[in-house]
Amino acid sequence: MNITYVHASKYGNGATVAKRFRDVMAAKGITVDVAHVRQADPQHLPPADLYVFSSPGRMGKPIGVARRFLRRVTLPAGTPYALLTTEAAPKPDKKSGQLPSAESLDRWQRVRPIMTELLDAKGLHKVGEDRILVTGLRGPLEDGWETKVDAFADRVVAVPGLLD
Ligand SMILES: Cc1cc2nc3c(=O)[nH]c(=O)nc-3n(C[C@H](O)[C@H](O)[C@H](O)COP(=O)(O)O)c2cc1C
Repeated sequence: MNITYVHASKYGNGATVAKRFRDVMAAKGITVDVAHVRQADPQHLPPADLYVFSSPGRMGKPIGVARRFLRRVTLPAGTPYALLTTEAAPKPDKKSGQLPSAESLDRWQRVRPIMTELLDAKGLHKVGEDRILVTGLRGPLEDGWETKVDAFADRVVAVPGLLD
């Protein structure tokens, strides 16, 4: 069983998340090959049982290098994939102290929806997604991020027929 994990980390947080995912999966007997988008050829990705794609957020979208990579990904229709992004934690409004509503966040923050649109348009099959938050624009990762990555790995492993 093996997973190819391609990320577009700029400041290192997404690379740290990828490493954790790789180590957690290794403990389950699953090999994860991690690469940065700049080191991977989207048209000749190595064979894998699952592809995980990860991008940091930029102005509500995946970072440009990730969008360009995902546009060029060539994999057979039906190939399973999952998304594990790093995104900025929502900030409370300076005046009201209130966090933005889920509705207004979803309007602005379209990192995973855009990644999903690009891959679903190729007939790929999403089996899971999550985001790990960073507390400042360049990090660090939120408290408890390791637990979130571990839970994501557990959910991926539990997808029927995927990695067993
Ligand atoms: C100019 C700039 C714009 C950003 N815009 C967003 C955004 O729209 N949404 C978001 O979730 N994160 C945004 N971020 C924060 C990134 O999510 C964060 O830098 C990234 O997750 C860190 O991951 P990395 O260390 O792997 O690059 C922005 C960061 C920068 C520097």
